[in-house]
Amino acid sequence: MKTEFLNAGTPGHIERAAQILREGGLVGIPTETVYGLAANALDGKACARIFEAKGRPVDNPLIVHISDISQWDALVKEIPERARKLAEAYWPGPLTIILPKADCIPQEVSPGLETVSVRFPSHPVARAVISAAGIPLAAPSANLSGRPSPTTAEHVWHDLKGRIEAVLDGGECGVGVESTVVSLACDPPRLLRPGGITLEQLEAVLGHVEVDPAVTHPLAEGVKAASPGMKYKHYAPKVPVKIVEGSREAYIDFVNSHKKDKAAALCYDGDAAALEVPYICYGGENDPDCQARELFDALRHLDELDAEVVFARCPPPEGVGLAVYNRLIRAAGFEVIHID
Ligand code: TXA
Ligand code: MG
Repeated sequence: MKTEFLNAGTPGHIERAAQILREGGLVGIPTETVYGLAANALDGKACARIFEAKGRPVDNPLIVHISDISQWDALVKEIPERARKLAEAYWPGPLTIILPKADCIPQEVSPGLETVSVRFPSHPVARAVISAAGIPLAAPSANLSGRPSPTTAEHVWHDLKGRIEAVLDGGECGVGVESTVVSLACDPPRLLRPGGITLEQLEAVLGHVEVDPAVTHPLAEGVKAASPGMKYKHYAPKVPVKIVEGSREAYIDFVNSHKKDKAAALCYDGDAAALEVPYICYGGENDPDCQARELFDALRHLDELDAEVVFARCPPPEGVGLAVYNRLIRAAGFEVIHID
């Protein structure tokens, strides 16, 4: 299949993307979190093609994207008061809300589930495409399954060229990690995936929110994943990544002492000058927003360092740092080395 490369700034290209989507095709679209691989959420056949194009496990549900809060009613059984309050506080934005689903949701969107996840993105191009298409759009991250999520149109092109109808370039994503996913289909509410809206922000509206153990720990054997996406290997480059916990000085000594083992570093901006091995920086030590924005691009480039092992620094699991920690610990296969 020939994949069209569209540009949101070119007249007619948003309308072209919308037309492809209305006709049952797949388009990679920008959002404020990561690029999504969009299809008509009410068309089971179109959604089935998403799984094929990404190589996505068929039991992993899709998020439905809307461009106006009034589209939400038709997708869910009902919208409880606490859900309305949460949406009022953080939509449009990097937040996905899970509720019991309406009958119109195809089984491809929520395979084997009684719920559906909905998000109202803030990215102007995402909103324009959804509005122009006139339909809600199912969209997982637009990467090949297992690869880091895409934060540029080039990442999408690299992974999915020839497998989808089009990519719509809308520039780099601002948040850089996928949306916060919270389930309001249970009591108390449950955080299934941390993102740009923090646990503290959720609790300011909802009161106590349970954090699913899979956010910070490997899924125990035999336990059913609350969010099926969390049980699959994610974000991992080919080179093994290990998180190193300890002070900056101890980290630098540790990494430099492994120079002969062809080590490389995934580090903070301020670490670079002291390192004697190849490195990629992903933001300042105290700047989790920047770390979130740059992490996936950094992970995509680690294999180019020609290293046998990559030692990574990782922020504490707080605020937006929890989202960075959650992605990085998966990329590292939960391998953490404690020094000091
Ligand atoms: O920021 C985002 O959320 C991006 C952009 C494109 O909007 N989308 C995204 O989709 O990250 P995806 O498919 O890569 O991740 C969706 C996650 C998966 O872990 C999936 O298992 C979970 O949300 N999920 C979706 N619907 C669910 C449901 N009904 N119940 C439990 N988990 C659900
Ligand atoms: Mg994904």
